[in-house]
Amino acid sequence: MMKDSGKRRKKPLAPPSGEALAGKLLAWYDIHARHLPWRARPGTPADPYAVWLSEIMLQQTTVVTVGPYFRDFLARWPRVTDLAAAPVEDVMAAWAGLGYYSRARNLHACAQTVATEYGGIFPDTEEGLIKLPGIGPYTAAAVAAIAFGKRAVVVDGNIERVVARLFSLETPLPLVKKEIKVCTDLITPERRAGDFAQGLMDLGATICTPRSPSCSRCPIIDFCTAQATGIAETLPRRAPKKKRPTRLGACFWMTRPDGAVLLRRRPPKGLLGGMMEVPTTTWLENQSTEDQWLAQAPASVTWKKRGGLVSHGFTHFELQLVVYEARVSATIAKKAEGIWVPVDQLDGEALPTVMRKVVAHAMSDAGPLFSK
Ligand code: ADE
Repeated sequence: MMKDSGKRRKKPLAPPSGEALAGKLLAWYDIHARHLPWRARPGTPADPYAVWLSEIMLQQTTVVTVGPYFRDFLARWPRVTDLAAAPVEDVMAAWAGLGYYSRARNLHACAQTVATEYGGIFPDTEEGLIKLPGIGPYTAAAVAAIAFGKRAVVVDGNIERVVARLFSLETPLPLVKKEIKVCTDLITPERRAGDFAQGLMDLGATICTPRSPSCSRCPIIDFCTAQATGIAETLPRRAPKKKRPTRLGACFWMTRPDGAVLLRRRPPKGLLGGMMEVPTTTWLENQSTEDQWLAQAPASVTWKKRGGLVSHGFTHFELQLVVYEARVSATIAKKAEGIWVPVDQLDGEALPTVMRKVVAHAMSDAGPLFSK
């Protein structure tokens, strides 16, 4: 149900167009813009590096999660040339917890390209930006508009919803994306396209919300055809979600006499590419036998299984991990492949969230319950 549907009109309006809508939205944005750490203060020019960094972080990640990461990155690497000069392992470690780790690798590659091939200056057009590593059509448009004031058509998840409602686009996602882009183009102004895009994002985040939109507070209610016919909350439509399969695997928590634990770096390509892991088996939908798991352990020693499972949701599957542990002698430790890290220094490692869960599980009070 809509929390607050505002006045319901009898007749659907003509689809919105042009400057009148933009004028209303920009006037609202001037007063109600969210104060976000990557936004330039009114009257100060945007820093293209900060805009680019924030836009990469904000892909598939919420504003609230991104905030502290953005501040840490900027404090540690204040200019794109600083980021370019950092070891990629440090960038991966600083990214740990944000997910979609190929973004971190591409971020570093992009910083190096800007530093070495562009003299540390970001290109100021969509066409120039899109040539850089990790910059797709969305990021190119967002950076061109927000950092350089270019007219560009920016569509993120919030904008998708606002525009689908403004124009009553009833085709389900993802098919409707093309129509949304065309319609967003129709309403994007020549001037202040970056503020316009961020205004639509803020409207989507605070008023034109997925559930119970607060239509009576909406600055562009007069242009909204879905509100007029009472279908706003049902848009955008989505094809029914497929259930995610579950994969199973095991991790091996191996400690040596000085208390250090064995970690490995994952291969650069693929899921969690280049991140660190507590040595783990392949993750399969079909149940493996314990022998199949132990054959993938980093050492042939006696492994004890901890009670409980570690669960983690990835985009395309749910993962459940069993954790085995073993304390090994210095001689066996020397032969194992990987790096040994003192447990009080694990925070500084590029451990993705799933592996942080494994660490927490392995270090929790409940000791191993079963032994082989
Ligand atoms: N999501 C993606 N880019 C954003 C921005 N510039 N402001 C708020 N939310 C965003």
